[in-house]
Amino acid sequence: MTDTSGPQLGRRNFLGAATLGTGAALVGLGTGGAALAAAGSPAPQVDFPDDPRAFAGGPPGTNNRAEIDLYDCEVEGQLPLDLDGMFYRVGPDPQYPKPEQYKGDIMFDGEGHVSAFRIKNGHVDYRTRYAKTQRWKAQHDARRSLFGMYRNPLTDDPSVKGLSRGTANTQLFLHHGKLLVFKEDSPPVYLDPLTLETKDDYYTFGGKLDSQTHTAHPKIDPLTGEYIAFGYEADGLLSKSVVVFSADRHGAVNWHTKVQVPYAGMMHDFVVTQKHVILYLTNMVSDMDRIKAGGVHFSYDSRAPVYIGVLRRGGDGKDLRWFTGQNLFCTHSMGGWSDGDKIVMDWDGGEGNQFPFFPSLHEPFDPVKGTGYLRRFTIDLSSKSNDRFQVETIYPEVSGVLARQDDRFHTLKYRYGYLNGVGPKGGWWIVDHQEKTTQLVSVPDYMLSEMTFVPRKKDAPEGDGYLIGIGSSMKEAGRSDLILIDTKDVAAGPVARVKMPFKCVGQVHGFWGDASDIPGADLA
Ligand SMILES: [Fe+2]
Repeated sequence: MTDTSGPQLGRRNFLGAATLGTGAALVGLGTGGAALAAAGSPAPQVDFPDDPRAFAGGPPGTNNRAEIDLYDCEVEGQLPLDLDGMFYRVGPDPQYPKPEQYKGDIMFDGEGHVSAFRIKNGHVDYRTRYAKTQRWKAQHDARRSLFGMYRNPLTDDPSVKGLSRGTANTQLFLHHGKLLVFKEDSPPVYLDPLTLETKDDYYTFGGKLDSQTHTAHPKIDPLTGEYIAFGYEADGLLSKSVVVFSADRHGAVNWHTKVQVPYAGMMHDFVVTQKHVILYLTNMVSDMDRIKAGGVHFSYDSRAPVYIGVLRRGGDGKDLRWFTGQNLFCTHSMGGWSDGDKIVMDWDGGEGNQFPFFPSLHEPFDPVKGTGYLRRFTIDLSSKSNDRFQVETIYPEVSGVLARQDDRFHTLKYRYGYLNGVGPKGGWWIVDHQEKTTQLVSVPDYMLSEMTFVPRKKDAPEGDGYLIGIGSSMKEAGRSDLILIDTKDVAAGPVARVKMPFKCVGQVHGFWGDASDIPGADLA
């Protein structure tokens, strides 16, 4: 199937349809670096801006902020009776408006709001809670925003010096019985996976995380149950240190190394194979000049080379090799594996800046160049002198962002991938690498947020199951359905829809947790 729609990149492709209609937050509305109101002055009444270009601006309902418990949601269709688990989502939901000088901040600086659908015996209970980060708690007590621009501590109120700036708003992951919520500038926040109560606002794997940061996209080794993750700018603002580590199925850190990257820049995702860890340094560079001027953390530098770094799992990091090639701005990996001396991995990526809310240094934002396509990288490790990667565009008829796979196949050669299609038709692509086919999943009159793969049973074959995610009704001002689609019969449309009586809080990513991995779920 071919999507003939033109490229269309916007924030909603990343935040999901649940934020539909909020408009794009633009950098540069205000770049002042002045300190906030003096401590002790009365907190302003909460009044979000009407201007959709301003941080958290837009019509009423742009921001959710409500922590909700809804018992036994309405279900249309038939949820599989043996589906037993929780579908988690997280996204930025600004707690407070920013003061005037920081109203140009970007939506990605909103505080993380976690939602969970507990599905069991065909019934669904819904719960949302803010991740109670150090930042959230300080602002809650002060009844105002205390943190300035995105990843710019120089713009913070002096009263919050030393607190974690983490917002826990990007992705979550269930491992060793804990729901870990991520923002890549800080360690995870640990929530109880059933109640969503925040248990630890700065989770360090028992003090063993030797990094001030942690990726939003850890991987799991399905053969060992190990959790593998990294953190960039690990030693502080603009540091070139990257910590890579793994933890066993009980959360005990069993490998750790620290390496240096060529320059400080965004490293949103990575790939792990059975043998190697592959780092991807994009040319979204960390920009101290912009930070000192009171702006956001990143600038897009088309002249800076993209680097791919390869190091052995379990090694001391001294074997790290860097490779260059076509300068592609890649954000999310679909999957990757080791094939003898070669590494093969797939990413969604564009030829230019994919994040228009981060300024480009040398040219205006180009939505065509920023459009993501699936890129297959091959890295040959057999020659010690080779320092170039090879890359080809696969399925050129498919464009999109937010690549995912069946998470049970991290580190392994995989068959199925999923991609958020861009363009007026929206929808999600299912990619079958074995048959080399693509299939568009869409629901008429709905915009789909990230659709997460759910195995039909815990040990079902790869790709056999459902895609689950929030659809926003275009005809009902964005009211939400939780939509479940059978991957074996996409044409039949949703198997079931959980009809929510409101527009659910927006999201970036989602995660499916099987009940057997959630302590106490059998009692819930
Ligand atoms: Fe992501």
